[in-house]
Amino acid sequence: MDSPSSAAIETSGLVKVFGGTRAVDGVDLRVPAGMVYGLLGPNGAGKTTTIRMLATLLRPDSGTARVFGHDVVREPDAVRSRVSLTGQFASVDENLTGAENLVLLARLLGHSWGRSRSRAAELLEAFGLTEAANRQTRTFSGGMRRRLDIAASIVVTPDLVFLDEPTTGLDPRSRNQVWEIVRALVAAGTTVLLTTQYLDEADQLADRIAVVDHGKVIAEGTSGELKSSVGSGAVHVRLADAARRPDAEQVLAKTLDAAVHLESDPVALSARVSDPERVAHALVELSRTGIAVTDFSLSQPSLDEVFLALTGRPAENTDTAATEEAA
Ligand SMILES: Nc1ncnc2c1ncn2[C@@H]1O[C@H](COP(=O)(O)OP(=O)(O)OP(=O)(O)O)[C@@H](O)[C@H]1O
Ligand SMILES: [Mg+2]
Repeated sequence: MDSPSSAAIETSGLVKVFGGTRAVDGVDLRVPAGMVYGLLGPNGAGKTTTIRMLATLLRPDSGTARVFGHDVVREPDAVRSRVSLTGQFASVDENLTGAENLVLLARLLGHSWGRSRSRAAELLEAFGLTEAANRQTRTFSGGMRRRLDIAASIVVTPDLVFLDEPTTGLDPRSRNQVWEIVRALVAAGTTVLLTTQYLDEADQLADRIAVVDHGKVIAEGTSGELKSSVGSGAVHVRLADAARRPDAEQVLAKTLDAAVHLESDPVALSARVSDPERVAHALVELSRTGIAVTDFSLSQPSLDEVFLALTGRPAENTDTAATEEAA
């Protein structure tokens, strides 16, 4: 049965080579059961290839991968019985209605007609698709289609769901709906392996995150851990009097030993903080210099900054989420 470690996924030195490309280049992962685990990386990082190996759709060139203790190469059937896929693997038929797709899938997965119809109705309701149930899937908007894809993947509740970029190209409202679905899945006991290029998505959803780049895991941890590994964040200060900003700038530059950024708001300044201990000192100095502060905050770095710090380049295209095409 399951390995005593109760990890949903465990890989060691996983490698997949395509021609000259090491798409996955020695990946070690440990995904505890019951959480959302994020694989975060830019285009071509190796996220989909990793998922395809874990889902037994692609044979690793070397290394090992276990899903609930079952080896993906030696025990593919045991693995398949526990997992479900969505994303580019989902098999929704464009010519069928939403309801027909789900009923058919439920039948294929061994439910009776009656149970299949009630399960389909349940899912359509849960995914906000009841009104569209009898429309052909080809008329669905991008967001509706994505929700149907996820519904199709949980017709039989799997122990582990792979979600490969479930919100790429969706508008903010549809993204939020998908996020709610993911949260509900996990609340019901399913483990989710989520790939994303969106730093905010990993931040919102994932309990732990592996940052992948060029087939390698370059960092791993909670989003808080990843952020604090980059240094503390930034201090933001607002003054009562814009005329005192040059003085405040001097005080902050000296006490924080950092470059101070003058915001477009004439009373606001910010600075990176490498040593949080200095922040209190900076506040005391501002007050001693007679500079009144109306607002003060210390923020963590964003996952964007984490990615930049880890890879030396920004994460790509986080702002190109296309609007959902109209039905
Ligand atoms: N079947 C294939 N044949 C040849 N090369 C491939 C194949 N599948 C993936 N690759 C290459 O392997 C690398 C990793 O691809 P992969 O699809 O795993 O990345 P990804 O992280 O999922 O990217 P994206 O965010 O664009 O989906 C890329 O360089 C890609 O071009
Ligand atoms: Mg991919």
